[in-house]
Amino acid sequence: MKQNEQVKVAVFVSGGGTNLQALIDAQASGLIRHGVLSLVISNNPDAFAITRAERANIPAVIISGREYPSQDDFEAKLINTLDEYGIELIVLAGFMKILSEKFTSRYPKRILNVHPSLIPSFCGKGFYGLRVHEAALKYGVKVTGATVHYVNEVPDGGEIILQKSVSVKKGESAESLQQRVMRQAEWVILPRAVELVSKEIMNTRRGDKK
Ligand code: GAR
Repeated sequence: MKQNEQVKVAVFVSGGGTNLQALIDAQASGLIRHGVLSLVISNNPDAFAITRAERANIPAVIISGREYPSQDDFEAKLINTLDEYGIELIVLAGFMKILSEKFTSRYPKRILNVHPSLIPSFCGKGFYGLRVHEAALKYGVKVTGATVHYVNEVPDGGEIILQKSVSVKKGESAESLQQRVMRQAEWVILPRAVELVSKEIMNTRRGDKK
């Protein structure tokens, strides 16, 4: 596949970036073929995800909330940067900042998010990172998992693309559950979803040209 035909993908990160790493590895192994990781944006200057991007030779740009305290200015800077790199698909991979409707409505079915639970359980405002797993354990669910979904104006409310379940072990800690959900579910379904949606975007493009 010619590189200029592939869908240019940007990954938004805030922390460790293990999901970004799963995408980088999936591109290297050929699992992601229709998309090409073209940009990483972090709102956190100290995110280890930036190092992962640099090691993979993907341009990394820091756009911090401290530098852009107004949501409007922050999102305007995001949009300029995405335009500059010709991005067609945005992946939120551990991105810990809520995006406004003004932003999400600009990219309908062009933003994906990975969430560490089986939506509609343990999702929405306030459910992120370890908190999600703490809530799942507190409730006593026997099965949890991860979801990749399109992003719209409702936090974790967009159409579901892929889900994968993970059994909860007796007496397990939130940290251990978080690790297993990542390994067994998130790192598996996020690359698959990126390939699926990139392929769809390419097919739409071809259809448009006919
Ligand atoms: C992941 O578990 C991701 O699903 C979660 O944050 C972690 C980021 O890890 N995202 C959310 O909770 C969003 N609501 P990573 O930086 O190592 O990919």
